Amino acid sequence: MNATLELMHQHRSVRSYTEQAIEPAVLDAILDAAYKGPTSINGQQVSLVVVQDAARRAKIAEIAGGQPWIAQAPVFVTVVIDFHKTSQALAKHGIEHVIQQSVEGFGVGAVDAGIALGNLMTAARAAGLGVVPIGGIRRDPQAMIDLLQLPANTFPIAGVVIDHVATDSPLKPRLPRASFVHHETYQAADLPAHIDAYDQTLSEFWQSIGRGDGKPWSANTAQFYSQFYFPQVAPVARKQGFGFDQ
Ligand SMILES: Cc1cc2nc3c(=O)[nH]c(=O)nc-3n(C[C@H](O)[C@H](O)[C@H](O)COP(=O)(O)O)c2cc1C
Repeated sequence: MNATLELMHQHRSVRSYTEQAIEPAVLDAILDAAYKGPTSINGQQVSLVVVQDAARRAKIAEIAGGQPWIAQAPVFVTVVIDFHKTSQALAKHGIEHVIQQSVEGFGVGAVDAGIALGNLMTAARAAGLGVVPIGGIRRDPQAMIDLLQLPANTFPIAGVVIDHVATDSPLKPRLPRASFVHHETYQAADLPAHIDAYDQTLSEFWQSIGRGDGKPWSANTAQFYSQFYFPQVAPVARKQGFGFDQ
């Protein structure tokens, strides 16, 4: 197997860092991996905000609900859905920009942001660094918007911590592959059995790494998905200029 595939198959999120600085040239190469990624209609509706200032990182750690690795690592990159740039392009022609008022627009922005996030992570890991993606910034998106001075028609959808690894994480097992890769048509029939199997696998995984508080997958997922767990997303997105077809 080639080195890129091997690296991607070994993905794990790391939350223990050395605080060692990242060489500027290495950081630039990682950022370029996202910059050069594909975007829908070549709209380039994504921007990155790179935060290295310690006080600002500490604030982001707090906004994300108290995630110390954000303050500890020297670099935090926020991936921003960005229709500010495209709205300026339309303004040049005197045309009203409306895509951000649709679910389609938020979806397009989120997909492109996800590609950028993935590219950042693969590039950082290829450079020998560790990463953890951070969705916790959506806990208080307005605070992120204020902190990063984001303009209208933008939204901080996710971020990523990048740094040198102090203690590596174990590979976390996934749901059975057959529940993920479907051939020709979606195979729903075996799903209950796959979930039962994975609840067992994940419980054993938590035990093996001494995480007594680790829950089976179905119970853990229920904790999050039985509520709108980041309820500020829609109101703050609306305030930024986004709409959801209404
Ligand atoms: C979009 C996204 C947001 C995430 N947000 C957080 C977060 O805020 N804090 C955190 O510690 N991990 C976060 N994670 C990491 C997931 O918990 C992790 O990917 C998952 O448990 C699988 O573990 P692994 O990445 O080690 O394989 C996030 C992952 C993704 C893809």
